[in-house]
Amino acid sequence: MVPRPMPSLEMTAPRRMPPICLAALAQVLSIVLTGLGMLSLQFLGLEIGIVPLLLTQSVLAVAVSFLMGMPSWWLAIQAIFVPALAAALALSIAPTWFLGGFILLALIYGRTYTTQVPLYLSRRRVWLAIQHLLPQAPGLRVLDLGSGLGGLIQHLADVRPDSHVSGIESAPLPCLISKLRIMGRPNAHTEWGDFWQTDLSGYDVVCAYLSPVPMPALWQKVKREMRPGSLFISYRFPIPGVMPAQVVKMNDLGQTELYVWRV
Ligand SMILES: C[S@@+](CC[C@H](N)C(=O)[O-])C[C@H]1O[C@@H](n2cnc3c(N)ncnc32)[C@H](O)[C@@H]1O
Repeated sequence: MVPRPMPSLEMTAPRRMPPICLAALAQVLSIVLTGLGMLSLQFLGLEIGIVPLLLTQSVLAVAVSFLMGMPSWWLAIQAIFVPALAAALALSIAPTWFLGGFILLALIYGRTYTTQVPLYLSRRRVWLAIQHLLPQAPGLRVLDLGSGLGGLIQHLADVRPDSHVSGIESAPLPCLISKLRIMGRPNAHTEWGDFWQTDLSGYDVVCAYLSPVPMPALWQKVKREMRPGSLFISYRFPIPGVMPAQVVKMNDLGQTELYVWRV
């Protein structure tokens, strides 16, 4: 529960291209370089087999991604991307399977490739901690930004029938699941949308479980829109350079924390 200063790592970080675009650029560059290398060898009368060609492309993709400053786990993806594509094509799997897989992932993850906030779920332990942080006043309005499968909304709506709990979620399938989950609860509501387009001024408590990426911009939105005295709660991800009023330890394996700011 002891407030402590947050590191200000990302406050001045320049805006970067989304990793998915950098990754695509690195793949295109490495394919072009490999192609040029292959044509040069052919010009010299040398033939190169498919396996050395794929290996060369893979090494170049990793090298270009590394030079672009991509994180190490992206380098692994970059290394196997084109070889895996070639292997999948060699298996002659019907294209409808790929289309089906793509649609399913798009429904589950929505615009994660731009938001850089994937779907992962908070646990009951976190819901209970948030429940205990809620002010006792009746008629409380609570909003979960990126409400996922609606677990937090459902829990808070059940334990605080005197309040109104809302969620906003951009990924279609999780949003549909949360709508089904909170069905029949008059004090719970969730909608499909983008929380950057949602006005936060009507809420007494706003919760977020996102990723480090949106936190600096989200704090600017919170300061601009939330009313004085309202609470902003973030699970796991602090706001760089902004000291929370309260830190609640979850006492779990990951040593995770809830950060609370009074606006
Ligand atoms: C880490 S999950 C948290 C889910 C849920 N709040 C929980 O505690 O279990 C973050 C969610 O935020 C959603 N999300 C990310 N950016 C969003 C945005 N701009 N608008 C609405 N939802 C967003 C993602 O689709 C994802 O489901």
